[in-house]
Amino acid sequence: MKHLKFRDNSTIPALGLGTWKSSPEVVKKAILDAIELGYRHIDCAAIYQNEDVIGEAFQEAFDSGLVKREELFVTSKLWNDAHKASDVRPALEKTLKDLRLDYLDLYLIHWPVAFKPGVTMPENPSQYASLEEIPLEETWAEMEAAKKDGLAKHIGVSNFSVPKLKRVMDHAEEAPEMNQVEGHPLLQQPELHQFCNDNGILITAYSPLGSTDRSAAMKADDEPDMFELPEIKAIADKHEVTPAQVLLGWHVNRGNTVIPKSTNKGRQAQNLAAADLSLSEEDMDTIAGLDRHFRYVNGKFFENEEKGYVNIFND
Ligand code: A2P
Repeated sequence: MKHLKFRDNSTIPALGLGTWKSSPEVVKKAILDAIELGYRHIDCAAIYQNEDVIGEAFQEAFDSGLVKREELFVTSKLWNDAHKASDVRPALEKTLKDLRLDYLDLYLIHWPVAFKPGVTMPENPSQYASLEEIPLEETWAEMEAAKKDGLAKHIGVSNFSVPKLKRVMDHAEEAPEMNQVEGHPLLQQPELHQFCNDNGILITAYSPLGSTDRSAAMKADDEPDMFELPEIKAIADKHEVTPAQVLLGWHVNRGNTVIPKSTNKGRQAQNLAAADLSLSEEDMDTIAGLDRHFRYVNGKFFENEEKGYVNIFND
């Protein structure tokens, strides 16, 4: 498994297991299966509402000797209702308690969107807090403090545009070490990648397979199916792998981290093997030509003018 380097030279496995949409009923087995297969990077978040069950799986994996804590790279994310300085540490402590860990390898600000404390998912604009009311730099200072206190080895953000990264960096002691964003051949974001590369910020790609298991409310009617793209199928045939493996291997060849979700052991194994796929320059050029700035997770669900959340991926 390839590893990517943070600025301090410590590393993260290039392919990890996503847990968004993994229901509490199945996620324990999914985590144990994945660790058994050799996954050493697990991506979690408080809002996925399964961290307590994932914690049971970690405990079992450590107790049985399946893996040691220090061999596992665990990410989690601060939810939007805990951006206020006084709310960050309690949210992180809750995540640690649920995951049954005493530190995270990586803690991210999940979205550059703030809700009023205690609002899990707003039903109207008044339940949001604007970024003037709770500035991202206020939240970031608490992330830095969490790292200093050893609760997270690395800190970063998710769903941040270049202007938002700059805003945080202008006020920061330390720049984010990671930006986790949607990424696949239809959404390649070359400018964001360039900025992150230039500033020593790693990128993790989420929804690399198009997250077809999202709720209907989060889906458009006419979404493209990346498994059916002729160019992806042709590259898959040439390498005798599946289209999913091409989609995942592309990130590793590009120098990103990628976190496919699967609760099926066979598909987990297939996805893990994709990290070792070596794509040619010609394959990479073909895939570069597929970009069309298409988002599966379009962020519309957080848009509201009243609190200033209009173009959240660009502003
Ligand atoms: P399952 O969990 O049953 O394997 P994403 O990572 O983009 O969010 O996509 C997750 C979706 O893709 C889930 O529906 C997952 O189903 C499915 N999936 C994961 N791995 C593969 C694979 N190798 N081939 C086809 N579908 C996959």
